[in-house]
Amino acid sequence: MSLPIAVLISGGGSNLQSIIEKMEDNILDVDIRMVLSNKADAYGLKRAEAYGIPTSVLNHKDFGSREEFDAEMVRVLKEAGVEAVVMAGFMRIITPVFLNAFPGKIINIHPAILPSFPGVDGQSEAAEYGVQLAGCTVHFVNEKMDNGAVIIQAAVPAYPGEKEDDLRERILKQEHRILPQAIQWLAKERLTIENRFVKLAEADVAAAERDVFSLVNPPLEKGF
Ligand code: GAR
Repeated sequence: MSLPIAVLISGGGSNLQSIIEKMEDNILDVDIRMVLSNKADAYGLKRAEAYGIPTSVLNHKDFGSREEFDAEMVRVLKEAGVEAVVMAGFMRIITPVFLNAFPGKIINIHPAILPSFPGVDGQSEAAEYGVQLAGCTVHFVNEKMDNGAVIIQAAVPAYPGEKEDDLRERILKQEHRILPQAIQWLAKERLTIENRFVKLAEADVAAAERDVFSLVNPPLEKGF
C-alpha cells in the first residue's frame, strides 16, 4: 500500500512538482492525500489541482496561537487519512501539537547544508558568507527549527560574484532529487534514527566507494 502523505507548502511548489513527477514515473510509492498551504495565493496549489490532488488553505493569521493553527492542520490532515507529512517550502514553525500527531513521520527540506544557515533564507546567507560549497538537507522535524536528524544532503559549488538566483537554482535542482528520494525511503520504512544519526537500511554504498566520494570546489589542480 502507498504511504498516505500530506505536502505542506507556502509558495511556488516546485518541490511538490518534483514529488508528483516521481510518482508519475512510478518510482515514488506515496499517495498525496492533501496539499495544504498557509497562503491562499501559493502557486503550488495550482500545481496540485492540475493533478486532481485535494488542497486546503489555512491562513495562520486566522488563528489565535501557533497551537490552534497546528490543531486545525492536524484535524484536516487526519480527516484526509494522512500518515506522514512532507514540509516542502512550508514557512511556518510547528509546535508539539503537530509533531505529536505524526511522530517520526514529518520531514522537511531546507536549502542549506545544516546545521549551517538554518532559518528563512539559507541560500542568501550561504552566498553572503562566501562558502565554496552550498547545498540542501532533508531532515526529520523535531521541536527545534531546522534541527532534526539528517536523512540526506546534497552539496553544490558556489561561485564568487555569481547572481544569488543562480546559486538558488543550483540548490533547488538538488532539492528536487533528494526530497523524493527521502520520501521513498520513509515510505518503505528504511529509515531509523540512532543517536541523531539516520541509518538507511539496505544502503547501496560499496565499501570501496566510501572513502573516495567527495565534492571539492574550486577543483583541485593536477598533482593535489
Ligand atoms: C525551497 O528552496 C525550500 O528548500 C525552501 O523554500 C523553497 C520552496 O520552494 N524552504 C525553506 O527555506 C524552509 N526553511 P518551492 O515552493 O518551489 O518548493
